Amino acid sequence: MAESMSDNGKNKVEREIVLRMTDVCTYYGAIRALNKINIEIRKGEMVCLLGGNASGKSTTLKTILGYAPPREGTIEFLGTRTEKMQTKEIVGLGVSLVPENRRLFGRMSVLENLKMGAFLRNDDEIEADMEHLFTLFPRVKERLHQTAGTLSGGEQQMVAMSRALMARPKLLLMDEPSMGLAPIFVQTVFDIIQTISNEGTTIFMVEQNANMALSIADKGYVLQTGEIVLSGSAEALRTNPQMKKAYLGDV
Ligand SMILES: Nc1ncnc2c1ncn2[C@@H]1O[C@H](COP(=O)(O)OP(=O)(O)OP(=O)(O)O)[C@@H](O)[C@H]1O
Ligand SMILES: [Mg+2]
Repeated sequence: MAESMSDNGKNKVEREIVLRMTDVCTYYGAIRALNKINIEIRKGEMVCLLGGNASGKSTTLKTILGYAPPREGTIEFLGTRTEKMQTKEIVGLGVSLVPENRRLFGRMSVLENLKMGAFLRNDDEIEADMEHLFTLFPRVKERLHQTAGTLSGGEQQMVAMSRALMARPKLLLMDEPSMGLAPIFVQTVFDIIQTISNEGTTIFMVEQNANMALSIADKGYVLQTGEIVLSGSAEALRTNPQMKKAYLGDV
């Protein structure tokens, strides 16, 4: 059945599965970084992946994107099996990444970076999408002709998010969007992520800032040394005693 136009993906009916990882194991050489990971993300959801340093959060995103393909298990993206696909094919299906540490094209201007985000598109709405992004990120518009490498950390994060959105992703992956940002920028970045989610973009976000992430997510997964040790609705995780003790700074 066709979706209604007003459905931004946030209604309560069972929505289409965008990403399903089933019993995924990923290795770096002999080292197993992910052990039987199961994750499900539905259309319009904002899902967060929490966990301490070296727990496998970035590896999970790299596995989805084919940078670190799984040795075992399956990955389905909108019904297509992707676990053996190359990164460029997976990106072509509509997965976009805002990487850890932004990784902009530092010598290019902000505008050139944004255009790179849209390079797989051939529709005529690229300009309109850019104008829309400027309403979300007025700072990006102000800095359009500045060399990306000279932007502040917070500005670079906004350009990285804008660049990823220029691809009109069916799934937006974000690796620690708050990392290294001043508190005032952290709030701004999370507000914008919430807006992007409300506009209907499906988001899978890695964060160490569990409180912040759970305040805007629909559901979450918690990784510990490569295994999912907890999962549930954001509300259930926020009130889970184990969660509070380990990740939410409960005293
Ligand atoms: N290219 C690689 N080669 C070998 N081991 C790797 C590689 N990348 C990551 N690892 C190892 O895999 C484990 C998980 O790393 P990963 O980067 O996924 O953690 P993370 O949860 O993102 O951590 P952080 O919060 O510090 O970013 C770590 O022990 C790490 O050393
Ligand atoms: Mg990481």
